[in-house]
Amino acid sequence: MLEKLSAQPADKILALVAAYREDPRDTKVDLGVGVYKDASGNTPVMRAVKEAERRIMADQTTKAYTGLAGDPAFGNAMKDLVLDDAVDHARVAAVATPGGTGAIRQALELIKMAAPGATIWFSDPTWPNHPSIINYLGMKSQTYRYFDPATRGVDYVGMLTDLGAMLPGDVVLLHGCCHNPTGANLTLAQWDGVIKLIKEKSAMPFIDIAYQGFGDGLDEDAQATRKIASSFDNVLIAASCSKNFGIYRERTGILMAVAKDADQQALTQQNLAFLNRQNYSFPPDHGARVVSTILGDPDLRADWEAELEETRNGMLELRQQLADELRRLSNSDRFDFLADHRGMFSRLGTTPEMVEKLRAEHGIYMVGDSRMNIAGLNAKTVPILARAIIDAGI
Ligand code: LMR
Repeated sequence: MLEKLSAQPADKILALVAAYREDPRDTKVDLGVGVYKDASGNTPVMRAVKEAERRIMADQTTKAYTGLAGDPAFGNAMKDLVLDDAVDHARVAAVATPGGTGAIRQALELIKMAAPGATIWFSDPTWPNHPSIINYLGMKSQTYRYFDPATRGVDYVGMLTDLGAMLPGDVVLLHGCCHNPTGANLTLAQWDGVIKLIKEKSAMPFIDIAYQGFGDGLDEDAQATRKIASSFDNVLIAASCSKNFGIYRERTGILMAVAKDADQQALTQQNLAFLNRQNYSFPPDHGARVVSTILGDPDLRADWEAELEETRNGMLELRQQLADELRRLSNSDRFDFLADHRGMFSRLGTTPEMVEKLRAEHGIYMVGDSRMNIAGLNAKTVPILARAIIDAGI
């Protein structure tokens, strides 16, 4: 039977991890996969995470199953963190999932159960795993313009024009903050325009928020999500804790579904628990417990927020340094967009051939669409990257 399998396309982002590892050059620079790195190139365990884990190890008396939706303390903590009081929490069904990817997968399966004919609209470009899962599930999809290659900002007019073709019941997948892969984000006023259009079209928003706290701050980065949650009867929100808690391998995420009222919430909650049962029964618990321990303890929370702020400010400084260095070398302001982008990534806006040239000649690894992980830089590699970009003629 297994001979009937055909080879699957390699994930563009994960393929880079292996290619980088095999490159013998000690001057190589990894700007590929979205993992935070400090100035020495390490991905540290956050202080509050270490302390929460110590407490869990000391206090945990059982490894018996949690509920199908995961530990309710995690669900409640995440509703607070992402939604605050934007919507009555009694309206929000929630299940813990293996990472943000698990939440996206469960959301799409939920949509498939509720509205099998719905078209999922996603941004062009988006995180490549979005279309990959959508296609794998055999769902209909369309793209909307998002990135303006001339300004390296959002193509807002293009976005609204394309979304104008949505049909009632369609679903629009939006990045809550820190757009991946471009780093270009809507202003709050533009979000209002998007909300208005989605309402006019009777479509449903589906938000992927994987970088809360990496852009402008924890609350600032959740503003669009909260605005949307408070504006519609139904909203799906897939949130990841991989990045902001630095617990990538613990696979910690949550799917939240805002329902119209308590009855609809109960029905949705029951369906989400069913979906968890079909796919993996109980969601992973360790990372979720780390998160709820941190968010539930004022001291741990303060320390986590402080370290997250350091991380965020470090990325902003790297952005500014890179933009300044490119301004100096190019004698122009054409790279200033790098300082305006937010989150872990920026799309440089060059061709796959140029990306390959940077890899071959300078050992600089970025995704083929010219997405750079800004957190992969440090004070030493910023000038190296800037020089390579100019030398390549970008
Ligand atoms: C990324 O975009 O690099 C991260 O979200 C990691 C991944 O799973 O692709």
